[in-house]
Amino acid sequence: MSHKYSSRTTADVVVKDLASQIAGTTVLLTGVSSGGLGACFAEQIAKSPQKPKLIILAGRSIKKIEETASIVNKAGVTTKILELDLSSFDRVRKAAAEVLGWSDVPTIDVLINNAGIMAVPYEVGPDGFELQLTTNHLGPFLFTNLILEKVLAAKEPRIVNVASDGHRLSPFRFADYDFHDGENYDRWLAYGQTKTANMLFAVSLAQKLGHRGLTATSLHPGVIGTNLSNHLDWEKDFGDLVKADRWMGNFEGWKEFEFKSLEQGAMTHVYAAFEPSLKGGKSYLLRIASVGLLTDMLQHTTAHTPLTDMSPIQEILKRPSSLGQRTPQRHSCCGS
Ligand SMILES: NC(=O)c1ccc[n+]([C@@H]2O[C@H](COP(=O)([O-])OP(=O)(O)OC[C@H]3O[C@@H](n4cnc5c(N)ncnc54)[C@H](OP(=O)(O)O)[C@@H]3O)[C@@H](O)[C@H]2O)c1
Repeated sequence: MSHKYSSRTTADVVVKDLASQIAGTTVLLTGVSSGGLGACFAEQIAKSPQKPKLIILAGRSIKKIEETASIVNKAGVTTKILELDLSSFDRVRKAAAEVLGWSDVPTIDVLINNAGIMAVPYEVGPDGFELQLTTNHLGPFLFTNLILEKVLAAKEPRIVNVASDGHRLSPFRFADYDFHDGENYDRWLAYGQTKTANMLFAVSLAQKLGHRGLTATSLHPGVIGTNLSNHLDWEKDFGDLVKADRWMGNFEGWKEFEFKSLEQGAMTHVYAAFEPSLKGGKSYLLRIASVGLLTDMLQHTTAHTPLTDMSPIQEILKRPSSLGQRTPQRHSCCGS
């Protein structure tokens, strides 16, 4: 990331710098509930001196989307509301069909896959996959692929996957992505594998579609007090996170969290979405005040997993037999 920004830079500063890139764009953003990074990003780019043309706000609660839409509208930017529940492939398909059917939105310049959940108890979604995997990766993967042609139709298309430095907690568990139907489930490792998947997906998009002008990036926004951890018990659940980090030898296990404000967190979204020097068939991981080529930074989390090949997931999504035919079960959480 540009040396002029630091971990304390706020989104409004980057918005002003990149206003000419923001001007006239159509942005589709998932996960826009008030108090979260998505809402903050939308509100900040709506205040740009040169406005986006349209912000499509997607989420599973219309009421929450409307709350953010009204703030964006007050700043003078048009919005569209899209009901999108990433935890269900049927609902993802329905939302994608709606987007494809909008004749007044021929292109999407920037797609930001921001929505996510973290460290929830073990649960299987309606399609038979663990809920964090479904919501954080499989749902966004399917949605992105279904609306891809509208993204690629843009002049300088860009896809941003909001990942996390939580990727350190797990590579993608190709042989056991469902934690053996929950038997050996760990809520933090499960989150970690989804964030690794977000990054791998960005790498794959850049490699496969860079020649069509697509820029695909992923980012870590920092540690920000949002709604993401509202369900967690600070002592017990974050104690389990520290244990997992220490067990793995990650330096985060011995380090206090350095919290950023929402506005500081959303600055990385703005940079990833609009910074013109991030280009083409390379994928970048953006974090706080540094930018690195994703393929370099992924090496330790993806040991033994094929960096360039997401086919296991693609195959899972294509196989009708694995979509919806496994019996959804509910297990209690095992923690770390
Ligand atoms: N906060 C941090 O410190 C941090 C650090 C690293 C990475 N991140 C990443 O940043 C992103 C945004 O998180 P946040 O911190 O802003 O948390 P947040 O406030 O909880 O926002 C998450 C958003 O995702 C939406 N969402 C959850 N499940 C969904 C589903 N099934 N379908 C559609 N939308 C769904 C939520 O909607 P509801 O309100 O309806 O639940 C909410 O709008 C996530 O991808 C997260 O992994 C955050």
